[in-house]
Amino acid sequence: SLRRQVSETLSLFRLKEEQLQLVKARMRSGLDAGLRSKSSSTIKMLPSFVYLTPDGTERGKYLALDLGGTNFRALLVRFKKQTSRLYHKIYTIPLEIMQGTGEELFDHLAQCVCDFLDYMGLKNTRLPAGFTFSFPCEQSAIDTGTLVAWTKGFKATDSEGHDVVSMLREAIKRRNDIDLDIVALINDTVGTMMSCAHEDQRCEIGMIAGTGTNLCYMEELKNIEKIEQRMCINTEWGGLGDDGCLDDIITLYDTEVDQNSINQGKQRFEKMTSGMYLGEVVRQVLLDLTRRGLLFKGHVSETLKTPGIFETKYLSQIESDRLALLQVRSILQQLGLHGTCHDSIIVKHVCLVVSRRAAQLCGAGMAAVVDKIRENRGLDHLDIAVGVDGSLYKLHPHFSQVLKETVRVMAPQCDVTFQPSEEGSGKGAALIAAVARRKRDV
Ligand code: BG6
Ligand code: GLC
Repeated sequence: SLRRQVSETLSLFRLKEEQLQLVKARMRSGLDAGLRSKSSSTIKMLPSFVYLTPDGTERGKYLALDLGGTNFRALLVRFKKQTSRLYHKIYTIPLEIMQGTGEELFDHLAQCVCDFLDYMGLKNTRLPAGFTFSFPCEQSAIDTGTLVAWTKGFKATDSEGHDVVSMLREAIKRRNDIDLDIVALINDTVGTMMSCAHEDQRCEIGMIAGTGTNLCYMEELKNIEKIEQRMCINTEWGGLGDDGCLDDIITLYDTEVDQNSINQGKQRFEKMTSGMYLGEVVRQVLLDLTRRGLLFKGHVSETLKTPGIFETKYLSQIESDRLALLQVRSILQQLGLHGTCHDSIIVKHVCLVVSRRAAQLCGAGMAAVVDKIRENRGLDHLDIAVGVDGSLYKLHPHFSQVLKETVRVMAPQCDVTFQPSEEGSGKGAALIAAVARRKRDV
């Protein structure tokens, strides 16, 4: 029957407990392999050169620049004795700049920084700045890092293999009207962890579930350099599966999404779990169901053939429990997808299974990480907090709940508290800048 055919398709996304256990085990081997040797692992495990958590003595004015999620943000953060104040402005990055030349991209960032300083009346000062750059960077110190590879739809030329801090400095020099002292380069996961660690000492993990997906955590240096100290490691866990280790759960729809992306074969885990791709997975399923005559009376509309129509915010709306079916239908109509109420039910189910799988996969990954930290410290029980950010985590009606529940089941020896970051990673970047400057001054 038609109903059975639809349900068979949906069942491709329903992972069994054993399958999730396998994902956890593979994430664990990926983490371990990445620590042993970066080059032979799909999980890069990049050192961040962030050792310290903030101690509350940070003072002064810092600039934070935040690139790599949905927007570019410039922030001014001011730490006082008991409080911190934050001013910010959001800038969009046009597609032609994301995919133009590296020089154009960094010129654009410098232009935004100049506009922000002007707006804040700080154009003639030289502030210390933290640069959140949410892409994999190979760092050899806190204030330098070469871009390993673009992810999440960025493709600016002549950037991979280059130091992104120098690129920003040069763009600023080219303008010759502002000055910045860039003291720290950090991943968004690291900024998010730091920002939450400021409020809660137990926070030793940072996670992003947004346009992309990634996680960082405090690793014992004795596992890397035989020193009794901890350094934050940016795992870049979105690369899990790039060696084929997830092929048994990857569906033909995931493969289609990968084939249509600008980084084919890369970030396979990310493509099953993050905002930039979930809508595309949904669209591929809908296309297939329609072509098989199971949806929209078999009529493949131009809209359905348009990449990117299902942004995370629409998935979130469609899946909301508060929405009546008629409202779902009207959202679909606004998107240009005209169907019956029955079609709306099917679309909603597709969204539900795709996002549920995403949250479960992230949960399995998180379970691997917390168990690793627990074993690192020789504990039977670990109590830990995770600073988390990203549009998928914050806006989706079920993602956070499914994530939490999956971690509870899959890491029974750990008590994991999720703390949504309040102010994005910018405050964390400013804190790291403050710590980095303090160290440089002594
Ligand atoms: C923001 C952080 O709040 O979340 C960024 O400040 C981060 O650093 C972003 O990259 C991730 O979410 P999204 O949904 O914009 O990718
Ligand atoms: C991508 C990037 C990673 C970033 C994540 C979340 O996976 O490679 O560096 O942390 O997206 O923004």
